Amino acid sequence: MSSQAREENKMNFLWGGRFDGTPDVLMRRFGDSISFDIRLWEVDILASEAYARALARAGVITEAVRDQLLSGLAQVHAEFAAGCFKIQPGDEDIHTAVERRLGELIGAAAGMLHTGRSRNDQVATDTRLYLRKQAQVLHQELHALQTAIVDKASAHLDVLMPGYTHLQPAQPVRFSHWLLSYFWMFQRDRERLGALMPRLNVLPLGAGALSGNPWGIDQDFLAQELGFDAVATNSMDVVSDRDYLVEMLGWCCLAQIHLSRMAEDLIIFSSREFGFVELSDLYATGSSLMPQKKNPDSLELLRGKSGRVIGDLVGMLVTLKGLPSTYNKDLQEDKEAIFDALDTLLLALPVMTGVIQTLILHPERMRAALSDEMLATELADYLVQQGIPFREAHALVGQVVRRALARGCSLRELPLQEYREVCDRFGPDVVEWLDCERAVERRSSVGGTARQSVLDQISAARQLLSNGMARLR
Ligand code: ARG
Repeated sequence: MSSQAREENKMNFLWGGRFDGTPDVLMRRFGDSISFDIRLWEVDILASEAYARALARAGVITEAVRDQLLSGLAQVHAEFAAGCFKIQPGDEDIHTAVERRLGELIGAAAGMLHTGRSRNDQVATDTRLYLRKQAQVLHQELHALQTAIVDKASAHLDVLMPGYTHLQPAQPVRFSHWLLSYFWMFQRDRERLGALMPRLNVLPLGAGALSGNPWGIDQDFLAQELGFDAVATNSMDVVSDRDYLVEMLGWCCLAQIHLSRMAEDLIIFSSREFGFVELSDLYATGSSLMPQKKNPDSLELLRGKSGRVIGDLVGMLVTLKGLPSTYNKDLQEDKEAIFDALDTLLLALPVMTGVIQTLILHPERMRAALSDEMLATELADYLVQQGIPFREAHALVGQVVRRALARGCSLRELPLQEYREVCDRFGPDVVEWLDCERAVERRSSVGGTARQSVLDQISAARQLLSNGMARLR
């Protein structure tokens, strides 16, 4: 390579000046982030436009240069939007690529844009802008899923099924009540997303590499231009603050775990042995070997993806542990983790929405799975009504259950005589208590299974959905 070619080649790097040559080809591959940070192109250009305006306001560049920068950036934007932006070998990251292309388009003036700015405050700004947008989409996807849940619950309000604890039949519940239990998990997710916005929505630009900006940049103006609520109060903190990423990753983990638990319930309920529900063909697949199979792949992946999202969080935490203060290149590792987690959630949420919307119910199978033994608590309550303390009633009903087991009959079939041998307070009306509808209706507490309680729950849920479309931030 001639010395002139070497000079030109190294100048492609934003930091080439003090170097004798270009990095080893392996080092370049190792250090490049363009393959994954390219998705920041739009926010990177947006932040550069704001910065060009701020430089002009501070009198660092003329208005003519500002306009040149802005029209060049608009052209770069158009190339990305049209899908014809060409990455060059020296483009280590999105910031380098945009600036390189800007230089090709407008010449030397492009070199003024980076005055006082570092990729350290730049990348932190870009990532926050990107996450803010993604959070908005997550919010909408959660809202859609919650809507699907409430709609399905309302349409099947009166379907009864066994409720389980320890995965053992416990007490009868409404299918709608079970389904709505997930509404509240996703509601908390939606609230938590809003709650992390104030810490996410802080402007790093102006922090420079680590020590601030010497050019009289108006950061309040930048914050306003870019829609940030506040300006970071410590430049050394903000260039390496990734807390908001950890929070967002933690958020993703919890939301994915909620999806996973819901998926697990549905996998069980859709098994041949339960048969309470059936997945639409849209969300199931077959087996390459066994022609009869219909597998709940959508649900298994919703459960399985929690592993990778948790891995993203753990990876990020380990990357941060022990980092000396301010920017270190390790921080470049933040992006794949957060992008992966967001991409996963942004597919998983609408898949679950589709699963719920198209879910086929088999109420007769749910009914058939209800049995008298799930009403043993009702018998205890019956005795309580007769004035017997609950502990005692519980033990007496235990004896009744044993008698029924010994006879191989249900609680309903057990002769009254047997009841009376256990406790003479049992009367002929006991049979009325052995009724699932009645058991479900008796639980009229707030959040209980009674029809009115579930209706109240549905209207509270709908209320939250109608308030809830306000933009995040
Ligand atoms: N690609 C880099 C990252 O994602 C941008 C910041 C580079 N800063 C630096 N001082 N090398 O972290």
